[in-house]
Amino acid sequence: MSHAFSKSCSVSVVLLAIVATVFVQTSADLAVDVKTADDIQIYTLENDRGMSVRVTNFGAIIMSIFVPDRDGNLADVALGYHDIAGYTNAVDKPYFGAIVGRYGNRIAEGKFTIDGQDYSLAINNPPNSLHGGVIGFDKVIWDAKADAADNSVSLTYRAKDGEEGYPGNLTCSVTYRLTDDNAIEIDYRATTDKATPVNLTQHTYFNLKGEGEGDILDHQLMINANRYTPVDETLIPTGKTPAVQGTPFDFTSAKPIGRDIAADNEQLRFGGGYDHNWVLDKGGKTGEMTLAATVYEPSSGRLLEVFTQEPGIQFYSGNFLDGRLAGKSGKPYVHRGGFCLETQHYPDSPNQPTFPSTLLKPGDEYETKTVFKFSAR
Ligand code: BGC
Repeated sequence: MSHAFSKSCSVSVVLLAIVATVFVQTSADLAVDVKTADDIQIYTLENDRGMSVRVTNFGAIIMSIFVPDRDGNLADVALGYHDIAGYTNAVDKPYFGAIVGRYGNRIAEGKFTIDGQDYSLAINNPPNSLHGGVIGFDKVIWDAKADAADNSVSLTYRAKDGEEGYPGNLTCSVTYRLTDDNAIEIDYRATTDKATPVNLTQHTYFNLKGEGEGDILDHQLMINANRYTPVDETLIPTGKTPAVQGTPFDFTSAKPIGRDIAADNEQLRFGGGYDHNWVLDKGGKTGEMTLAATVYEPSSGRLLEVFTQEPGIQFYSGNFLDGRLAGKSGKPYVHRGGFCLETQHYPDSPNQPTFPSTLLKPGDEYETKTVFKFSAR
């Protein structure tokens, strides 16, 4: 079934009558049957300029992003699978396009304490907990509602108290909106009935040449950050926030991602490349929308600008891609065949008293926005 609403701003929805069985690779190499469902949908947002974004309510995943290059040629710049089964059946999956939560990134040894009460999470990235646990928000079915007038789709997930070890019933929603000026606006909201850490982010892997078109080392990246949060060998922040100047982590002026990635540097060794959080320069505007990063791809002319209200951004250079996964058109996703720019609070904040807090309390609302804006020049 498919509905097209209007020509200029259209949302179409495909209801897929499929039974999905999800297998998740855990740290113990165990295949776990985590969910069956027959109500997975795909929504397509389109605008007049030819841009389109496909979203599914499984994991609130962005499945594709078609954007024009400088000559108007469209390419899909988001890595992923060509159908839903690719996402639901993926073993060892890299979170292509998903919303990660309840806590994006790592929590040291899966442990934290709130008001004297200790909590323990599954260790799915030994010795730490990563991206919300074994069955994080990327592997659950969300309720979806399309709004044609707004050219958006809103997804809601209600996580239970104790789910993946986190306290509190958490209702969270993510709205994806495609604007007429080729921006994907992402609005996040959440409320809870018990104090809980919350850190939601979007995990799209971009390749501005097009998914499957080689690596991203020639993309020119600027990160609006003079500091970053170095990590230990398990990728947990040390708590320090040194200056990037004079290190391979200096992206204050745009430079090719590949320029310093092979430098002899302990932090790059720990990450197998870039897999770090930068402390965004907010110019004193904490919580306000500011430019976080730009990425320019010279051969296509495509430019991605990232704006966010969040204080940090994880730049991950696709170090764990190794050519085993094939793209939507069957092309292998080679080492560093995509990059992520995950707007977020800093990793392990629940255990780092000097970092901005990620604690959401009953009565308060988690509300944050990130924008991925595309153009070409
Ligand atoms: C993490 C990486 C991880 C990747 C896929 C990123 O957000 O920082 O360490 O490998 O997600 O799970």
